[in-house]
Amino acid sequence: MDTVVETQGLYKYFYNKKGHTVIKACDDISLSIPKGKTLGLVGESGCGKTTVGRILLRLIEPDSGTVFFNGHNLTEMNEKHIRPLRKNFQMIFQDSSSSFNPRMRAYDALKESVQLYSDLRAKELRDEIYHLMSRVNLHKEMLSHFLGSLSGGELKRLDIARVLSIHPAFIIADEPLSLLDMSIQSQIVNLLLEVQKEENTSLLFISHDLRIVRMLSHTVAVMYRGKIVELAPKSVITENPLHPYTKHLWNPKISDFYVQFFESGCVYKNSCRVLHRKGFPLICSEKQPELLEYEKGHYAACHFAQE
Ligand SMILES: Nc1ncnc2c1ncn2[C@@H]1O[C@H](COP(=O)(O)OP(=O)(O)OP(=O)(O)O)[C@@H](O)[C@H]1O
Ligand SMILES: [Mg+2]
Repeated sequence: MDTVVETQGLYKYFYNKKGHTVIKACDDISLSIPKGKTLGLVGESGCGKTTVGRILLRLIEPDSGTVFFNGHNLTEMNEKHIRPLRKNFQMIFQDSSSSFNPRMRAYDALKESVQLYSDLRAKELRDEIYHLMSRVNLHKEMLSHFLGSLSGGELKRLDIARVLSIHPAFIIADEPLSLLDMSIQSQIVNLLLEVQKEENTSLLFISHDLRIVRMLSHTVAVMYRGKIVELAPKSVITENPLHPYTKHLWNPKISDFYVQFFESGCVYKNSCRVLHRKGFPLICSEKQPELLEYEKGHYAACHFAQE
């Protein structure tokens, strides 16, 4: 299978002003996404999902590690050489307002992105913009509105239209369903599936909700505090999750305790039911488990993954 996007050993730590507290937003992340497939990236708020997405597009620099896009090593290229490739990878931003100028009208925003890579004449351009609006279920009257006056859900859909207008080979969809009503959520899921089928698009679908991720993904990566703790084909992770955190995401009511231990050891130990059940084994507080392959394509990072 052709790999479109691949990362190896990505690290990104953030420090506070005094350089003391460290947030490990990416802590040795390796992922790959084949052509025409979706990788779902799921994990709680603050675990580093958006940071991974931003590094993949070289919107921020990793501390170390590599990102390949269609064989190009983006981490070794400067912006001048990356720019011509940017058409091929686009992000639906979690905070859509960050990708738009509030004083621009919706029509001009879409026109600008459609015209970036095509030279349609006036009528075709207008038809294309109307078509994009209908795909994301926005009324074309909204095109005359200023972006600053649109609601969060409307801006989100406009951002999705902006990305689709560019026909990228790879889309990062960062919480694309947040702020949308249930009925519109399913339309957007269907739209992404349709675009993927028509254009063989590769997708990184980011969400904190495993059940939503499951709808679109071929493979699911579960992230916790900067680490991938489980990675498997969707059907496998649904039927046979190995990591306690993945199990918790499927059934969040069972364990919502939080115990503050020390920093070393497994990233998940403070919330782990297995650790409690097994009477706090030392290994969990001493050693971060490696991401090991338990069956073909099914990886987990837990000392007790098989129990
Ligand atoms: N520029 C930055 N400076 C300092 N800390 C940052 C910066 N960007 C992100 N972080 C921190 O890194 C961690 C990961 O952030 P990130 O936005 O990637 O999380 P996320 O998984 O996308 O969360 P959410 O689900 O809430 O969107 C968070 O603790 C965040 O506060
Ligand atoms: Mg985020």
